[in-house]
Amino acid sequence: MPLPIVRTVADLRAQVSAWKRAGERVGFVPTMGALHEGHLSLVRLARTKAQRVVASVFVNPTQFGPNEDFDAYPRDEARDARLLESAGCDLLFAPTVGEMYPRGFSTTVTVAGVSEPLDGQARPGHFQGVATVVSKLLNQAQPDVAVFGEKDYQQLQVIRRLVRDLDMPVEIVGAPTARAEDGLALSSRNAYLTPEERQTAARLNQAMREAIATLRDGGRIDAAEAAAVEALKAAGFGRIDYVEVRDAEDLSRLGPGPLGGRPARILAAAVLGRTRLIDNMAV
Ligand code: PAF
Repeated sequence: MPLPIVRTVADLRAQVSAWKRAGERVGFVPTMGALHEGHLSLVRLARTKAQRVVASVFVNPTQFGPNEDFDAYPRDEARDARLLESAGCDLLFAPTVGEMYPRGFSTTVTVAGVSEPLDGQARPGHFQGVATVVSKLLNQAQPDVAVFGEKDYQQLQVIRRLVRDLDMPVEIVGAPTARAEDGLALSSRNAYLTPEERQTAARLNQAMREAIATLRDGGRIDAAEAAAVEALKAAGFGRIDYVEVRDAEDLSRLGPGPLGGRPARILAAAVLGRTRLIDNMAV
């Protein structure tokens, strides 16, 4: 049976309330479409935590900067719907921009602190767009549990903070990053890579793994970060926005010396050709 699709908040809420009245737990997986195995793993994880799973596909204009890829972002709703259905999703919420941001829309959600460094610097306004749309989506769907990929680790931490700060009654679950065999994190934007760039792209994850090995051997954080940046430059990456080791929860700066006792995460963002790639790993 084809996956049911709703386009209005009213229709979404009617279905979710019916499930809740029947005593069913509802899981939610927000996406921007162009789905790949990583997204489907989120749906499957949501399925293990709820009887019903709703996914949303909405390419959110407010989280793209003026010179970013909003227009070029791949869109294929029929394909997304087939994939979601095969992964065990029960309902697709695919609103229009007008449904999400009607005339007169005036509210922006800002999460201070954790949204400020890294992509907060490299993509001004990005996390305000994310926090605003995720607040709306969670209020619209009112799920019991929502699953987000660790691939967008800073986004995940911003959403965790937002949900705590605004007392939203939803459990946030982070799902491990799905990777290709050579380690490249799966991303809808990998579709922009040429075959040659696709080979080079795996260096991003390798450089992070090398940095982690250095740190586990007692090496200095500043030296490990600098070596990763040099490795990426040598591999042919263009602009390198950051390769940084940070506190795994609040993303505050660690270093410059060896790792202390705090759980750490290495995060990287770099441009290859016209594609901006991001990745992160636990240290
Ligand atoms: O991670 C994404 O795909 C988006 O940032 C999200 C969470 C769906 C908000 O638009």
